[in-house]
Amino acid sequence: MTQSREFDVVIWGATGFTGGYVVDYMANAYSGSNLKWAIAGRNLEKLEALVGEKSIDGINVFQADAMDLDSMRELVQKTRVVLTTVGPYARYGSELVAACAEHGTHYCDLTGETHWMREMIEAHQQTAERSGAIIVPTCGFDSIPSDLGTYFLQREMVAKTGQASQHIKYRTRSFKGGFSGGTLDSMMAMMEKAETHPELLDAVADPYVLNFKERGLDGPDSNHAHYDADFDGWVAPFVMAAINTRVVRRSNELLGFMYGHDFRYDEGMFMGQGPKGAISANAAGMGIAAMNRLPRFRPVRELMQRFLPKPGEGPTPEQVENGHFEIELMAKGPTPADDLRVDVKGQQDPGYGATAKMLAESAVCLAQDELDVGGGFWTPASAMGDQLLKRLPDNAQVTFELHA
Ligand SMILES: NC(=O)c1ccc[n+]([C@@H]2O[C@H](COP(=O)([O-])OP(=O)(O)OC[C@H]3O[C@@H](n4cnc5c(N)ncnc54)[C@H](OP(=O)(O)O)[C@@H]3O)[C@@H](O)[C@H]2O)c1
Repeated sequence: MTQSREFDVVIWGATGFTGGYVVDYMANAYSGSNLKWAIAGRNLEKLEALVGEKSIDGINVFQADAMDLDSMRELVQKTRVVLTTVGPYARYGSELVAACAEHGTHYCDLTGETHWMREMIEAHQQTAERSGAIIVPTCGFDSIPSDLGTYFLQREMVAKTGQASQHIKYRTRSFKGGFSGGTLDSMMAMMEKAETHPELLDAVADPYVLNFKERGLDGPDSNHAHYDADFDGWVAPFVMAAINTRVVRRSNELLGFMYGHDFRYDEGMFMGQGPKGAISANAAGMGIAAMNRLPRFRPVRELMQRFLPKPGEGPTPEQVENGHFEIELMAKGPTPADDLRVDVKGQQDPGYGATAKMLAESAVCLAQDELDVGGGFWTPASAMGDQLLKRLPDNAQVTFELHA
C-alpha cells in the first residue's frame, strides 16, 4: 500500500478531450466527498481556464510535462493514484509509468497500445512489485466491458457448474459513438513507428502479446464475417478485439488460470440475421480490413490527419450524451443447458462519456478500496474485478446483467 499522500487521485491530461469528461464526472460524483483529487497537465493557463469552465474553484492544479522526468517524479509523489489520459501513451507515457513504479504510486490509463504495455511490463514489473505500485492500463471501453464481462461470467459459471467456461464470445449488440483526435493520433503514432520497427506489427498481431507464462489455444483475430449459431446471426470482426482479447487472456494468467489453460476468447460485432445480416457483416469486415491496412501508408495517414479530428477534438457534447453501448457475452458451459450470457450496457459515448466514468471509478477504486493484489502490472479484472463489478453499476451506469 502506498504511504499517505497529499491527494488520493490526480488526473493528468485534464485539459484533453477525454480528460475533460473525467473532470466532469469527478466533479459531479466526488465533490464534497472525502476523496482528495487534483488536476494536472502541461499547460498551466489551460488548466486554470478549465477550473473556471468546469466551476471547480479551489481544486489544486499542477503542471507536469511528459518530457520532463523531474516533473513526473514530483507529480507522482503527491498522490496515491495517477489517472492519465495523456496519449499516445507510447509517446508520452513511459516516464510516468517509470516514476509510478519507482515511487509506489498506483496508476490507471486508457492505452490500447499493447506493444507499449508489454514494453512497460518488461521494464518496470519488478520495480512496481518492490514499491507496491498497482499499475492498471486499459481502464476504459477498452477493455473494461470485455475484461469484467468475462470475469463476471466465469464467476457465475464456476458457481453454477463448479468449473470455468472453456469458451467465451463477446458480441457488440449495438453501440453509438465517435472518436477523438487523440485516439486517431495514437493509431497514427503506432503506424508511424511501425515504418522503422516493423516487428511492432507482429507484436500487435500476437494474440498472447500480454502473456508471459504460457500461450493458449487462440489464434489470430478473425478478419472475416461469419455466421455464429450461438447468436443465430452474422458477426463481423471487431476493431477493438486486437486490444481487448489480449487483456482478457492476460487476466486469465494473472488470476492463476482461473479460466483454465484451454480457455478461448473472441470478439465480434453482431450484424443481424438473414441475407441483410450477411451483407452488413461482410461490408463491415471489408471496412475494418481497410481501416487496419490503409493507415500503414504515409499518404493515407497524412490525408486522414488533414480531415479527421485533431488532438483535443472529438464528438460534440450532444453526440457524447446520446451515445451508448450494449454488448452480449456468452459463456459455453459443460452442456448447452449450462451456457450463460451477460448483457453489459453503458450510457453515453462508449469511448468518451462511458470511458471517463469507468476510468474515474478505476482510479477511485485504486485509491479507496481494499484490493487483494500487490504491486505490479495488472488488468482491470485481475486487480479490481469484484470491486468494479459493484462500483460501475452503482456509480457509472455501466451494468452487468445475467440472462438466459
Ligand atoms: N481505450 C479507450 O477506451 C480510450 C478512449 C478514449 C481515449 N483513449 C486514449 O486516450 C488518449 C487521450 O485521448 P484524447 O482524445 O483525450 O486526446 P487529447 O484530447 O489529444 O488529449 C491529450 C492530452 O495529453 C496532453 N499532453 C500532450 N502532450 C503532453 C505532454 N508533453 N505533457 C503532458 N501532457 C501532454 C494534452 O495537453 P494539452 O491540452 O496541453 O494539449 C491533453 O491534455 C489517447 O491515447 C486515446 O487513444 C482511449
